[in-house]
Parts: sequence; structure tokens; C-alpha cells
Amino acid sequence: MNNTNATIQKGDLVFVYLDNRRQFLVQVLPGAQVQSDFGNIPCDDIIGQPYGTTGKTHLGHAYHCLKPSTADLMFKVKRLTTIVYPKDLGYLLLETTVGPGSRVIEIGTGSGALTLVLAKMVAPDGIVYSYERRDEFMENARKNVERAGFIKNVTFIGRDVAQEGFDDHMVDAVFIDVPEPWEIVPHATRALKGGYHVVAWSPNIEQVKRMVDALQSNGFIRTQVSEIAEREMLVRERGVRPRERGITHTAYLIRAQRILPPSGDKT
Ligand SMILES: C[S@@+](CC[C@H](N)C(=O)[O-])C[C@H]1O[C@@H](n2cnc3c(N)ncnc32)[C@H](O)[C@@H]1O
Repeated sequence: MNNTNATIQKGDLVFVYLDNRRQFLVQVLPGAQVQSDFGNIPCDDIIGQPYGTTGKTHLGHAYHCLKPSTADLMFKVKRLTTIVYPKDLGYLLLETTVGPGSRVIEIGTGSGALTLVLAKMVAPDGIVYSYERRDEFMENARKNVERAGFIKNVTFIGRDVAQEGFDDHMVDAVFIDVPEPWEIVPHATRALKGGYHVVAWSPNIEQVKRMVDALQSNGFIRTQVSEIAEREMLVRERGVRPRERGITHTAYLIRAQRILPPSGDKT
């Protein structure tokens, strides 16, 4: 086991934390600076230090160089769309077989938050086929995934899947995050290995009903729908209790597994 503390290299991603209002995901490049109202931090002061190092801005405020979590990588993508939330994705990933070497489809790419997590999960030799119908979203997502360091595990495909379907894959999982997921289900049936998982999530219960109907009429079983509630706790000397405000609803989560048609049935 390697117990040494990794040294930050040129081009690495560092989570620079001053306080809860001043926290930055930074790719440290020579000559660049992290700027905040608490002062500037030259990236050259960070390069060569171990993760966990504490330094001072030019105004004397402390900053800490932390290793970004997978959730940090997701939350700090440049967002042009809504993104999947870590509380939902953590659960959904465990409802699939996705791991190193897996081949998976996702639709739509959106801002690439899910793309980068899937790419990280399937690395080093798996692949994510990421479908998106809007070029500007795909380009932004490509940059987000590249910055996170997982571009080699992603193939981006610009296409309206409802109209044109998927390429001829046989994948281990299909992740669907589009407003009309039921339009994708017949295509998912053709692209997914028998016995494997489709997962999807939608903010509205009307979408869930249509999606479940589509899954049931396209050869999927073990359909389950759930919602994950997360409550942040305030832990303070003057009282410990849940935070009053926060994100109260993200999406309903759907998972199902594909069964093969009876042998001899060509559909
Ligand atoms: C909510 S965003 C996905 C966000 C993404 N999961 C993330 O975490 O960043 C939905 C995306 O699906 C795309 N989309 C919707 N319908 C589509 C279709 N039929 N074919 C391809 N992309 C589609 C939209 O353009 C949009 O970018």
C-alpha cells in the first residue's frame, strides 16, 4: 500500500478551500492565479506541495489544498443544463453493474456531469457512449470531461436519439436523462444486453408513469421507482438541527432490467 501523500503536479485538479463561500476547483497551471475577495493565490505556490497543504493568500487568509471528490468534479462543471445530483447518482450506480471495463450508454450528455462520473467508473478500459442532440451542449460537456481527465473513456455522438436511435452497441447499462425518456426505451431495448439495467430519472411523476408504461411494454421487468431524500445537518454549539432550506426535490429514480424475447422471436 502506498502511504505517501501525493504531490500536486502541474495540470492537476485541486479543490482550493478558504471557507464555505470561497471554494474553487482549480487546474493548477504555472503562472496562473486563483482570485477571490480574500486575496490571490499563485498556482506556482501550490504546484509541488502535497494535497492537504495550508497556505496564505496575498491578503493573509488561509487556504487549503484538498483532493477533489467525485461529487466536487460534478458540481464544478460549467453548467448549461440541469445536472444529476450525487445523492441520486450514487444510488443509481449501485443499481447497475457498472465498473472498470463496462460499456455504457448515456443520453443526454447535457453538461457532462454524469458523463465524467461514468467515465471514471469504467476506466481504465471501458467506454461511455454519450448521446446529445445539441452541439453547443456537447462541446461544453466535452471540455468539462477533458478538464476532469476522463476524455479517453468517452465517445460523444451528436444525435436526436428519439428520431434516429443508438448505434449498434451491446452495452452493460443505459442511463437516460431526457425530458421524454419513454421515447428512448424502444432504442434502449435494442442496445442493452439481456438481463442488464436501464436507469432513468425525471422530476415529475407524470413522466414516471409514462416511462414505467414504456418499460413494461418493451421487455423490462423488476421496475422500481424511488426518491432519495437528503437533509443536511447544522452542527453548532448553539444547537444541532437540520438546515431549514435546501434542495427538497430533485428527481424520481427509475430502474429496470431487460429480459430477452422468447427464443425464435426476432423482435
Ligand atoms: C438534463 S440534461 C442532462 C444532464 C446530464 N445528465 C448531466 O448530468 O450533466 C438533458 C439533455 O438531454 C438532451 N436531450 C433531450 N432529448 C434528447 C434526444 N431525444 N436525443 C439526444 N439528446 C436529447 C438535451 O439537449 C439536454 O442536453
